[in-house]
Amino acid sequence: MSFRSVFIAVVIAFALIIGAFLINRARPKVETEQPSAELVRATGKCAECHARTQYSVVHEYEMSMHARKGVNCLDCHQPAPGQQKKDHHGFVISTQLTAGNCRSCHENIYQQFLRSRHAAPAWAAIFGEKGLTAEQVNFSEQYQPGGTRRPPHPFVQLEGNSAMTSGCEQCHSVGRPNADGTIGTCTACHSRHTTSVRLARLPSTCAQCHMGPDHSQIEIYEESKHGVMFQAQERLLNLDAPPKTLTTRDMFVPTCATCHMSGINGIGVTHDPSERLSYYLANAISEHRPNWAANQARMKQVCSQCHTPALIERVYTQADQVVLNTNARVTEAKNLVDGLRKDGVLSGPPFSQPIDFTYFDLWHYDGRTSKHGAFMGGADFVQWHGNYPMLQKMVQLKADAAQLRKQHGR
Ligand code: HEC
Ligand code: HEC
Ligand code: HEC
Ligand code: HEC
Ligand code: HEC
Ligand code: HEC
Ligand code: HEC
Ligand code: HEC
Repeated sequence: MSFRSVFIAVVIAFALIIGAFLINRARPKVETEQPSAELVRATGKCAECHARTQYSVVHEYEMSMHARKGVNCLDCHQPAPGQQKKDHHGFVISTQLTAGNCRSCHENIYQQFLRSRHAAPAWAAIFGEKGLTAEQVNFSEQYQPGGTRRPPHPFVQLEGNSAMTSGCEQCHSVGRPNADGTIGTCTACHSRHTTSVRLARLPSTCAQCHMGPDHSQIEIYEESKHGVMFQAQERLLNLDAPPKTLTTRDMFVPTCATCHMSGINGIGVTHDPSERLSYYLANAISEHRPNWAANQARMKQVCSQCHTPALIERVYTQADQVVLNTNARVTEAKNLVDGLRKDGVLSGPPFSQPIDFTYFDLWHYDGRTSKHGAFMGGADFVQWHGNYPMLQKMVQLKADAAQLRKQHGR
C-alpha cells in the first residue's frame, strides 16, 4: 500500500468519526443519552425501523419540542382509554390516534378546544347530531347555542358520500366524534409529529380550511396591512416563543393566531376562538353573540397591544356599518325569495331551482365576504367580492322573480 492511499484511508476514517459525532450531536439528547430503559424501548426502537422506511415522520418528531422534553413515540401511540389495541413488533399501539392521545398531558387545552366551534359544531355543520352522543350535544350547546343541535346540511343528501368524505369532511372533521368517545383532532393545526406552536401561528396553517369564496379569511389577510407586513418581516418574528410568555417583542405583526388565540403580553391564550368574537358573521343575517360585549372587549384588548384606541374604534365603527348594510341587503333578498315560496310561485325542496343558488351565493359568498373584509382589513373584499356582486345578484333576483310571477300569473 502506498503512503498516499494510507493517508487517504486515515483522512476518510477521521472524517467518518467526526461525521458520526456531529450527526449524533444533532440528534435529540433523549436518543443519545438514553436515560431510561423505557425510553430506549419506545423511541429508539420505533425509530430504528421507521427512520429507514418513513424518514420524514421520525425527522419531524426529532425536531419537535416533544423530542427535546423526552416525550417519546409510545407516549402518543399507546392506546388511550377506549381505543382499540394492536400488537406491533413487540409493542402495543393504538390503531387510530385522536385528541384522546394528547389530552393525557394537555387536558386543559382539550377542555378549551371542546367548548369551541372547532369541536362538535364543526362536525354538526355537515352531519347534524349524527355520531354525537346526547351528552356531547348538551355540553357543546352550553357554550355554542344552536351550533350542534341541528339537522344535517342539505348538501349531504344532494352531493353524496364521496363529496362529503373528500370535501366537506376534510375541513370539518377537526371536530369529528371519535370511536374512543373524544372529539376531534389536534393535528389540523399542530401536525402529527412536528407539533409546534410555530406551525400553528403561521397563517398558511389556518388557510388549509379558512379560504375560498365562502370564508376568504386568508385572501383578506394577505391583502391587509397585517398580511403584507407579515410577508415582509416573518423572518424577524420569534414564532417559537413559548405561549405563556409571548410578547409584542416576539410578534410585532399579528397573524390569525395572534388575534384569535394567542395570549400576547400576558392577556391569556385560548383554544376557543369564539371568546373574542362579537357577531355570527358566517350566518346569512349576522346578529350579536351572547356575551358579545365581553368578547369584543377581549379582541380590542388584543388590538390595543399594538394600536391606539382611536384606530381600533374606527375599524369597529366602520365594520359595524358594513354588517348593518349587509344584513339589510340579505334581508331584502330573503324576503323576495320567501315571498315567491309563500305565493306558490317557487316550489320544490331546497336547492332545486336556479334562483335558490342566486340567493345562496348572495349571502354565503358575497355577504360573508363583505363582513369579513371589513373586520380584517380587506377593502377589495368589501367592495369587489362583496358589495358589488350583492348589488348585481339583487338585480338578477328581482328580474328572475318578476319572470316567475309572470309565468305563474301572480
Ligand atoms: C421491527 C420494525 C418496527 C418497529 C420496532 C416498529 N414498527 Fe411501526 N411499522 C413497521 C412496519 C413495517 C409498518 C408498516 C405496516 C405494518 O406492517 O403494520 C409499521 C406501521 C406503523 C404504523 C402505522 C400502522 C397502521 O396500521 O396504520 C404506526 C403508527 C407505527 N408503525 C408506529 C410504531 C411505533 C409507535 C413503534 C414503537 C412503539 C413502532 N411502530 C415500532 C415496523 C416497525
Ligand atoms: C405527539 C404525539 C406523537 C408522537 C410523539 C409520535 N407520533 Fe406518530 N403519529 C401521531 C399521530 C396523531 C398520527 C396519526 C395517526 C392516525 O392517523 O390515526 C401518527 C402517525 C404515525 C405513523 C403513520 C404515518 C403515516 O404517514 O403513514 C407512523 C409510522 C408513526 N406515527 C410513527 C411514529 C414514530 C416512530 C414516533 C417516534 C419517533 C412517533 N410516531 C411519535 C402522533 C405522534
Ligand atoms: C406524555 C405527555 C404528552 C403527550 C401524550 C402529548 N404531549 Fe404535547 N407536550 C408535552 C410536554 C411535556 C410539552 C412541553 C411543554 C413545555 O415545556 O411547556 C409539550 C408541548 C406541546 C406543544 C408546544 C410545542 C412548542 O413548540 O412549544 C404542542 C403544540 C403540543 N405539545 C401538542 C401535542 C399534541 C397535538 C399531542 C397529541 C397528538 C400531544 N402534544 C401529546 C407532553 C405531551
Ligand atoms: C376548505 C375547507 C372547508 C370545506 C371543504 C367545507 N367547509 Fe364549511 N366551513 C369551513 C370554515 C373554515 C368555516 C368557518 C367560516 C366562518 O366562520 O367564517 C365553515 C363554515 C361552515 C358553515 C357555517 C358554520 C356553522 O356551523 O353553521 C356550514 C353550515 C358549513 N361550513 C357547511 C359545510 C358543508 C355542508 C360543506 C360541504 C358541502 C363544507 N362546509 C365544506 C371550511 C370548509
Ligand atoms: C381543519 C380545518 C381548520 C383549520 C386548520 C382551522 N380552522 Fe378555524 N374553523 C374551521 C371550521 C370548519 C370552522 C367552522 C365551525 C362552525 O362554526 O361550524 C372554523 C371556525 C373558526 C372560527 C370562528 C369560530 C366561531 O365562533 O364562529 C375562527 C375564529 C377560526 N376558525 C379561527 C381559526 C384559526 C385562527 C386557525 C389557525 C390557527 C384555524 N381556525 C384553523 C376549520 C378549521
Ligand atoms: C385551530 C388550530 C388549533 C387546534 C385545533 C389546536 N391548537 Fe393547540 N395551539 C394553536 C395555536 C395557534 C397555539 C399557539 C398560541 C400562541 O400563539 O401562543 C397553540 C398552542 C398549543 C400548545 C402550547 C400551549 C402552551 O401554553 O405552551 C399546546 C400544548 C397545544 N396547543 C395543544 C393542543 C391540543 C392538545 C389540541 C387538541 C385538543 C390543540 N392544541 C388543538 C392552535 C390550535
Ligand atoms: C388583526 C386581527 C385579526 C387577524 C390578523 C385575523 N383576524 Fe379574523 N377576525 C378579526 C376580527 C376583529 C373579527 C370580527 C370579530 C367580531 O365578530 O367582532 C374576525 C372574524 C373572523 C372570523 C369570523 C367568525 C364568524 O363570526 O363567522 C373568522 C373565521 C376569522 N376571523 C378567521 C381568521 C383567519 C383564518 C385569519 C388569518 C388568515 C384571521 N382571522 C386573521 C380579527 C383578526
Ligand atoms: C401584534 C401587533 C398588532 C396587533 C395585535 C394588531 N395590529 Fe394592526 N397593525 C400592526 C402593524 C405593525 C401595522 C402596520 C403599522 C404601521 O404602518 O405603522 C398595523 C396596521 C393596521 C391597520 C392599517 C393602518 C394604516 O392606515 O395603514 C389597521 C386598520 C389595523 N392595523 C387594525 C387592527 C385591528 C382592528 C386590530 C385588532 C383586531 C389590530 N390591528 C391588531 C400590528 C398589529
